[in-house]
Amino acid sequence: MKFNFDEVIDRSNNFSAKWLEMDKKYGTNELLPMWVADMDFKTAPCIIDALKSRLEQEIYGYTTRPDSYNESIVNWISKRYNWNIKSEWLIYSPGVIPTISLIIQEMTNKNDKIMIQEPVYSPFNSVVKDNERELVISPLKKLEDGSYVMDYEDIESKIKDVKLFILCNPHNPVGRVWTKEELKKLGDICIKHNVKVISDEIHSDIIFKDYNHTPFASISEEFAQNSITCMAPTKTFNIAGLQMSYVILPNTDDYKALDFAFARIDIRRNNAFSLVATEAAYNHGEDWLEELLEYLEGNMDFAINYIKENIPSLKVKKPEGTYLLWVDFSELGLNDDELNRLLVEKGRVALNNGSSFGVGGHNYQRINLACPRSMVKEALERIKKAISK
Ligand SMILES: Cc1ncc(COP(=O)(O)O)c(C=O)c1O
Repeated sequence: MKFNFDEVIDRSNNFSAKWLEMDKKYGTNELLPMWVADMDFKTAPCIIDALKSRLEQEIYGYTTRPDSYNESIVNWISKRYNWNIKSEWLIYSPGVIPTISLIIQEMTNKNDKIMIQEPVYSPFNSVVKDNERELVISPLKKLEDGSYVMDYEDIESKIKDVKLFILCNPHNPVGRVWTKEELKKLGDICIKHNVKVISDEIHSDIIFKDYNHTPFASISEEFAQNSITCMAPTKTFNIAGLQMSYVILPNTDDYKALDFAFARIDIRRNNAFSLVATEAAYNHGEDWLEELLEYLEGNMDFAINYIKENIPSLKVKKPEGTYLLWVDFSELGLNDDELNRLLVEKGRVALNNGSSFGVGGHNYQRINLACPRSMVKEALERIKKAISK
């Protein structure tokens, strides 16, 4: 391997939320942190070099995006997902969740219904409630083998009067990379009932070798017109601290509305560093990403084998994408509080409690495996020890 993902990096001086906010959440900073979804790897050298040379310019005033910036995004999406978007469909945003919140404010009214599929990344739930919209939950259906599918019957039965559907594609935390057929079925229901789809595709680059990411809007012109896609290089290249994302909006009226909504709050410019990092990542980061994917899949395989051999009371299904492992602890027969306490006090690990992902999350924990394998091993050994106690 050209890049060293085994290197253990001390993040104690890195202003890292994952490492430094443990105390606030778990009551101690002495845990092995496997929660917040960023990675404990250095970003790609091509990004570091681009940032260093930007830093050396020693002026960090207001930025303007060169044409090459949008071109790097357009080319990446064409190359990675075979979807040909236009530069004029792109809107800059500092983050996916702020975008979703703004879309809710712009395109729906107070008490309007918005549908999500739980268990899911918890801000999907809170961003709806915090904007005083009515949350409609269609739980994912769990199959015998531990994998998840959408429950179309349930969606149809609840979708009347829903205005927006927030889709997680690929899905955090259950690790599904939705197929074109699955997305088509969902999109047809949304069109039939006049429901706009926000497709959060922030995890779209972390896809394991037997799977392909399908951008929801790439399926048909009708879907493109009825959806808003949110993407970012932040998960892919571990640059979430630079705070950038982009919206892809082929529908001209929706584009104008959202563009104006961002202008109204004066969010229109990248910061000096996200600008160059994005371009460097998309123009030169592909070989780094390919090695990262191999390493992450190796971590997944390692963890799953370890669990099967050493902690058989836990149930896991290998995810199709994302670096997040969704683990079923139900056989331990503990309630959420007891399980959380066991993992923190006996295991000394910081995981994400499944219930925080909503309906269907009870008895689960989400483990972030985007770290050196030695850390994955250490975390699993700690969990094993806690359970055997
Ligand atoms: C599905 C999903 N959407 C959005 C985000 C956060 O995106 P941002 O930091 O751009 O708001 C995350 C982070 O974990 C996520 O998993």
